[in-house]
Amino acid sequence: MRKRFAEARRVLVLTGAGVSAESGVPTFRGGGQSAVWKGMPFDKISSAGMLERNLPEVWEWFNYRRGVLETIEPNPAHRALARWQDRFEDFTLVTQNVDGLHQRAGSRSVVELHGNIWRARCRACRAKYDLRERGESASRTYTCTECGNYLRPDVVLFGEMLPVGAFERAALKARECELCFVIGTSALVYPAAGLPEIASAAGAYTVEVNPEPTPLSDLCDEVINGKAGEILPLFES
Ligand code: APR
Repeated sequence: MRKRFAEARRVLVLTGAGVSAESGVPTFRGGGQSAVWKGMPFDKISSAGMLERNLPEVWEWFNYRRGVLETIEPNPAHRALARWQDRFEDFTLVTQNVDGLHQRAGSRSVVELHGNIWRARCRACRAKYDLRERGESASRTYTCTECGNYLRPDVVLFGEMLPVGAFERAALKARECELCFVIGTSALVYPAAGLPEIASAAGAYTVEVNPEPTPLSDLCDEVINGKAGEILPLFES
């Protein structure tokens, strides 16, 4: 593996909630549990249907999550991945995370498959807002300064399509890479979980880093059972 890492030119990394776990961000699944908000499973509160039925409740859940993130720092896994971008000729970091911690650790051009929790967008006119800049009280339902309609979190909810172009860009890089890492994801949510399959089918060497097995473990050429923050820096030594 060291040799492959040292010699690879085209590398793709797919990350999930597990990469932020050591920063203290709760994962959605894993350890036999799944997240719940006010008695609702996370995939119900984070759903397109809930957005239609109860937008203020959706905002409350996302405001709560942003509040958790405000006190949190990137961990050694985020920092290792930020270093990797300058190490390989062609490096693509694709994340399912909406927490922005990869960027805070210094990663550039991150492909965000599920959007970003620090952004909002208008439900009517598609204007986008940086919630850090808006600095509004966390409890209100935001409205668009362009057209007055309600804003929503700029994240992909269950039952929604991915942002146009993001998956296509990631899939293209998955087809071209020689080495593919799948780190800290339960690999249950598609199409994201399909990227290592695309890479593997195109001949890439695939490596999973996760303390628990996932549905992708059998497909991967190498499975490293461990925490991302402890394992990733080891590849560099
Ligand atoms: N290092 C690496 N992996 C870890 C660590 C760690 N320190 N801690 C936990 N994990 C693993 C868990 O074993 C689990 O497999 O991270 C994974 C987290 O899985 P999920 O919570 O399901 O997160 P993810 O795969 O990113 O979820 C995908 O589902 O809810 C939606 O849109 C949301 O983007 C999210 C998507």
